[in-house]
Amino acid sequence: MKKVNNPYIILNAAMTIDGKIATKEGDSELSDKVDWKEVHKLRTQVDAIMVGKETILKDNPKLHIKYYNHKGYYRIVLDSNLTIPLESNVISFQPDIYPTIICITDNVPFTKQRDYEEKGVKIIRAGDGKRVDLIKLLPILKSLGINTILLEGGGNLNWSFIQNNLIDDIRLTIAPWIVGGKEATSLVEGIGFEEIKSAPRFDLFDVKIRTYYITLSYKKRK
Ligand SMILES: NC(=O)c1ccc[n+]([C@@H]2O[C@H](COP(=O)([O-])OP(=O)(O)OC[C@H]3O[C@@H](n4cnc5c(N)ncnc54)[C@H](OP(=O)(O)O)[C@@H]3O)[C@@H](O)[C@H]2O)c1
Repeated sequence: MKKVNNPYIILNAAMTIDGKIATKEGDSELSDKVDWKEVHKLRTQVDAIMVGKETILKDNPKLHIKYYNHKGYYRIVLDSNLTIPLESNVISFQPDIYPTIICITDNVPFTKQRDYEEKGVKIIRAGDGKRVDLIKLLPILKSLGINTILLEGGGNLNWSFIQNNLIDDIRLTIAPWIVGGKEATSLVEGIGFEEIKSAPRFDLFDVKIRTYYITLSYKKRK
């Protein structure tokens, strides 16, 4: 059951016909300009964009908005041991418009945390396990006024959200390639469910078809 003190979570991704969000070498250039424009429009409607640490390490994204006027939002990175480079775009690029929050565990020394805080990053500690505890984290984010989050991957972070049944909405673009490879990142990684009946179910509410691309929109079944 959805907790009222959690932000609304929209999973957004572009994947290949065979369900991969990047090749085995980490190439994730799947969206064309039209799709990017739609993603950036969606970014104008949320309070925060969230990604996992590997997406920062592999893509070094700015997580900003082109094409539209907007008020800015938080960029949230889940990095349990606080390892992303201080020079990452997500820290250095326009922090006044897109303040960055890095979510870590209690295992990180406070001295290390200070280096990031000096760059203007807000650090949130959530749990003392191996990874950031989403169940503890989401109400903290909500208490900061973050009501809607666009979850932009990658596959391992997507799994943690799916496993805990925390996704409310999905916007999924299918790009016209098949890349294969068991080392290529899938839309959802992790250990997976054993039975279909244990997995969260989603209702399709919109299909947009344009040259070569399809965008599917789903809502969690209540
Ligand atoms: N096509 C697309 O739409 C799209 C979008 C985004 C990313 N991508 C691609 O996806 C690839 C990266 O995906 P990925 O699956 O390797 O990594 P990821 O999901 O971006 O990051 C996973 C990492 O996040 C950290 N993390 C912290 N707390 C977590 C939690 N509760 N649950 C899960 N992870 C947590 C973990 O590292 P620690 O244990 O060290 O904290 C974990 O290894 C890249 O190649 C990127 O290009 C594609």
